[in-house]
Amino acid sequence: MSRQIIIDTDPGIDDAMAILFAFKAQALTVLGLTTVFGNVSVAQSTRNALSLVELAGVPVAVAEGAATPLQMPARSHPDFVHGKDGFGNIGWPAPRGEADSRSAAQFIVDQVRAAPGKVTLIALGPLTNLALALELDPGIAPLVEEVVMMGGTVHTTGNVSPVAEANIINDPHAADAVFGAAWPVTMIGLDVTHQVLLKAAVLERIQQANPDQGDFLAQAAQCYFNFYRGAMGIDGCFFHDAATIAYALEPSLFGCRHGAIRVATEGLAIGQTMMAPEGRQFAEPGWEDRPMVKVALEVDDVRVLSLFEQTLSGR
Ligand code: BDR
Ligand code: CA
Repeated sequence: MSRQIIIDTDPGIDDAMAILFAFKAQALTVLGLTTVFGNVSVAQSTRNALSLVELAGVPVAVAEGAATPLQMPARSHPDFVHGKDGFGNIGWPAPRGEADSRSAAQFIVDQVRAAPGKVTLIALGPLTNLALALELDPGIAPLVEEVVMMGGTVHTTGNVSPVAEANIINDPHAADAVFGAAWPVTMIGLDVTHQVLLKAAVLERIQQANPDQGDFLAQAAQCYFNFYRGAMGIDGCFFHDAATIAYALEPSLFGCRHGAIRVATEGLAIGQTMMAPEGRQFAEPGWEDRPMVKVALEVDDVRVLSLFEQTLSGR
């Protein structure tokens, strides 16, 4: 039985890797893409999501979501990482298709209500649309099979500040609401994505096996590789968003612990994801009655990369 997923996304080069990976995975059925601001504006996210649907040739709806965070002013888009167009400035043609008339939050509510207990939400950007869906219909939380989100970090240094990861700092209020809702959340954060290094050679092999999508990914990834080389001296890029798809396909590739997650919403630590391990009691308030989040801390990087390559190579 194929797992039904909605991908909430801000494409984004690594979002594109995740989305094409999911489209190719026979064990997943993508019900729709919902878009959010983040790596680019939400309008550009929507264009890019439509382009990915066309590139893959799949009949998947795209619903546009939030343009700004719930409470804070929006931060600037990281064009030095993903390019101004989110695809590494490769001049990809505009899509012909159009977005669904519903908002992302409404789309999520409709899909979850139509298939209670069967829909997994995979979040690859700021968590604003998921928080808005909860506001629109709080009753959906227990009807969602699982929320698998890329973002946050417990033990690893952040990538926007020493303690904050990009998706969380882009809307910390939304993230705190998502971690506090009555749905099962799995956090795939920097603790694991920084243990998986994707090298250009993998994309070159995918390009040979699956030229249409492989050419696009190899072109777009140049900008991403340049960023990692220049900013961190790394030969390759960290495997962020696509790690959620690997988890959805094969959870046993990840080692997880449970704990309550809170997000700092102001001050120097804004965007920090803090974990209270399961079973520990603390004198300070703020941790009581929070649901347990499944937090990925270990990963089999070789098998994750091999699953990605084999799936996108169509073998
Ligand atoms: C996350 O931030 C974005 O730049 C990536 O697309 C990924 O979702 C990594 O911190
Ligand atoms: Ca992303």
